[in-house]
Amino acid sequence: MLQLGVNIDHVATVRQARMTDEPDPVWAAAEVELGGADGITVHLREDRRHIQDRDVKLLKETVGVKLNLEMSIAVSIVRIACQLKPDQCTLVPEHRQEITTEGGLDVVRLKRRVSQAVDKLHKAGCIVSAFIEPDEQQIKTSADIGFDAIELWTGAYANAKNPRAEKRALQELEKSIEIGRQCGLVVHAGHGLTYRNVEKVARLEGFSEFNIGHSIISRAIFVGIREAVRQMKELLIRYSS
Ligand code: PXP
Repeated sequence: MLQLGVNIDHVATVRQARMTDEPDPVWAAAEVELGGADGITVHLREDRRHIQDRDVKLLKETVGVKLNLEMSIAVSIVRIACQLKPDQCTLVPEHRQEITTEGGLDVVRLKRRVSQAVDKLHKAGCIVSAFIEPDEQQIKTSADIGFDAIELWTGAYANAKNPRAEKRALQELEKSIEIGRQCGLVVHAGHGLTYRNVEKVARLEGFSEFNIGHSIISRAIFVGIREAVRQMKELLIRYSS
C-alpha cells in the first residue's frame, strides 16, 4: 500500500509571516494524522524560514506516525538530526535563493560529504533517504553510499509542458523505480504532486511512499487539513491498488 507523507512546512510559513505563534505546525501534524496520513514531513532549513528547532523537537515527542525530517548535509543540521533522531531523514539540496527544493541532491558529486552524513544518521538510528533525480548514476551511487531509500524527484513530470514530455518523465520514473529496487532500495517519490496529477505516478508499480505538501495544504485552506489529507489518501488507495 502506497504510504502518504504530508509536508507541513507551509503551516510554519504562515506563522513566520507574522513571526507569531499561530498556526502551530504541531497542531497541524495532529490533524494530518487524524486525516489518515502515514507520515509527517518537515524541512528544517538552515535559514529557518519556516520550520523552527522547537517544532521538530515537539513533533518528535507528539507525532505517532513516521516523522520524516528533510534536511541538507550541513554539519550543524546533521548534528541536530542526530540529537533529535527522527524516524527518517531525507537528504535534500538546499540553496538560500530558492523558493522550494529545486531538483535532487547530486550524490555523485557530493559523495564523500553525503556518505559522512549518512553514517552519522545511521549511527543515530535513523532511516536515511536520498532525494535524487531519476537518473541511473544517482540511484546506483545512493545504493553504494548505503542509503536505505531514495525519493525520486517528480518535478519533471509535474512541470511537463506537453504530453510527450510527460510521457518521457513517467518512463524515466518507471525505469528508475526498477533500478532502485534492483539495488535493494526502498523507492519514494515527491515534489509537485497534486490532486490532479497524482494518478499517473501512483499507478506506477513499486513506489512505497509519496511526500506531498503544497497541494494538500492549499486544499486545506478550503476544506480543513483532516479532510484534505483524507481526500489525497483516498486517491492513493484508489490508484495504487
Ligand atoms: N519531497 C521533498 C524532498 C521536498 O523537498 C518537497 C518540498 O518541500 C516535497 C517532497 C513536497 O513537494 P510539494 O510541496 O511540491 O508537494
